[in-house]
Amino acid sequence: MQQKEDNLKSIISHAKEYGFVFPSSEIYDGLAATYDYGQLGAELKNNIKSYWWKSMVQMNENIVGLDSAIFMHPSTWKASGHVDAFNDPLIDNKDSKKRYRADVLLEDAVEKIRKKIDKEVAKGFKRFGDDFNEEEFRKTNPNVLRNVTKINDIEDRMRATLGANDLEGVYDLIIDLGIVCPISGTKNWTEVRQFNLMFSTELGSVAGDASTIYLRPETAQGIFVNFLNVQKTGRMKIPFGIAQIGKAFRNEIVARQFIFRMREFEQMEMQFFVRPGEEMKWYDYWKDQRIKWHKSLGISEDSYRFHDHIKLAHYANAACDIEFDFPMGFKELEGIHSRTDFDLKQHEALSGKKLQYFDPELGESYTPYVVETSIGVDRMFLAILSSSLKEEQLENDTTRVVLALPPALAPYKVAVMPLKKGDGLQEKAREILTQLKYDFNCAYDEKDSPGKRYRRQDAIGTPYCVMVDHQTLEDNTVTIRDRDTMEQERVAIADLNGVFEERCSMKTLLK
Ligand code: GAP
Repeated sequence: MQQKEDNLKSIISHAKEYGFVFPSSEIYDGLAATYDYGQLGAELKNNIKSYWWKSMVQMNENIVGLDSAIFMHPSTWKASGHVDAFNDPLIDNKDSKKRYRADVLLEDAVEKIRKKIDKEVAKGFKRFGDDFNEEEFRKTNPNVLRNVTKINDIEDRMRATLGANDLEGVYDLIIDLGIVCPISGTKNWTEVRQFNLMFSTELGSVAGDASTIYLRPETAQGIFVNFLNVQKTGRMKIPFGIAQIGKAFRNEIVARQFIFRMREFEQMEMQFFVRPGEEMKWYDYWKDQRIKWHKSLGISEDSYRFHDHIKLAHYANAACDIEFDFPMGFKELEGIHSRTDFDLKQHEALSGKKLQYFDPELGESYTPYVVETSIGVDRMFLAILSSSLKEEQLENDTTRVVLALPPALAPYKVAVMPLKKGDGLQEKAREILTQLKYDFNCAYDEKDSPGKRYRRQDAIGTPYCVMVDHQTLEDNTVTIRDRDTMEQERVAIADLNGVFEERCSMKTLLK
């Protein structure tokens, strides 16, 4: 655990040192859980967004995008259920005065038991070596079985209490499990209360309930209220999807763990409209598509797992998360939800406008069902950053810090460098930069020794460095140095764009 916390600390300091993420308003000592993306962070974030947009919108004939306003008519949030039901159960520890989400305390308790099971399995592996049959061990080992029963019991009680908003029941479960505050170490808890997560503000100069509007807590509602606009003007036929990338705001009770949980964050969401009764088929389809998208980036497959929701949101009939192995452990990265016809029906009821689709194949009108995929840009950013940052031991007893980003997402694809100043090398390097910069975001670096310059590019994740030397002036070739293998190869300048296109473009991953 300590190792993991240290990892998070080194990611935060690396992100700051190299211009990926800064604490917001830092000159005023920052604002809790608010961050700004720096010069390299903005590039990485944009690349994540375009990778998602390309694969979701531009490569799917039946999915289109939109960009709706953050402010929406207040009835939107009444209809969606967010005014009445977008609550987190919170609990305070009277000694530390710290506030927690009750459901998170319970999930952490379950995670601790899961870790015990993993330890038991690891012990078995150690004892039996290559003969170890993990599946059999998990089915028969008494310690594992006891802990599995414990988890099932807790999860049953969580489902029953959280699902029914039984706050006393949630409190009792926390007490029965002997959960202590991680700060004070005591069980001196307040009762569990509900807390609405929406930020509100006033529209115009008139105060009062009628002018209260909300900062959107999800981008999805901008899609629902435009369902008919897009369906009609785009002549979309079911099944079809509408996608959007945009900011969302939640007054999180506990906003912490760097950019993992913030009060202002960005979402990439897609609502897929389907025939009623076909939603489970599409739910499984999108689970499969989304995990493939993640795995296409080449990050270790063990870093992902599915987790079915214990407590379904007020709009869902099935829901799961794709969890990622963050420095703090496995946590939600993306949600896939079968939202039924809840949202469209609710908007129909409150707006009085018919939000139905006439299905020419069936010859009837209906309210479509919706399967949603929803991923946080910032969490994706943290997943990429944390899985890429490495300290490597080199053969000559030195170390190097390398950010092994997937090349398609790296802020700079190429750094162009003259071996030294003078002899016409800088001019030649700038010529090459001009040749490359229309296709790729490139850095130019002529300061310090080549070794130092390579290290600088390693630390910011640039996959390739192009070194211009005296031979370049004679035969128009350069060396390309690979970030991950540190190997160098000689390539003709005329071939550079093709080589980098093959190795760095999103096209290669998407294919
Ligand atoms: N429209 C459905 C929806 O908003 P959600 O599970 O509440 O579902 C979707 O959020 C995704 O948004 C999450 O999987 C996570 O990646 C991201 N997200 C949610 N709250 C966040 C926060 N406070 N900070 C950063 N990202 C957040």
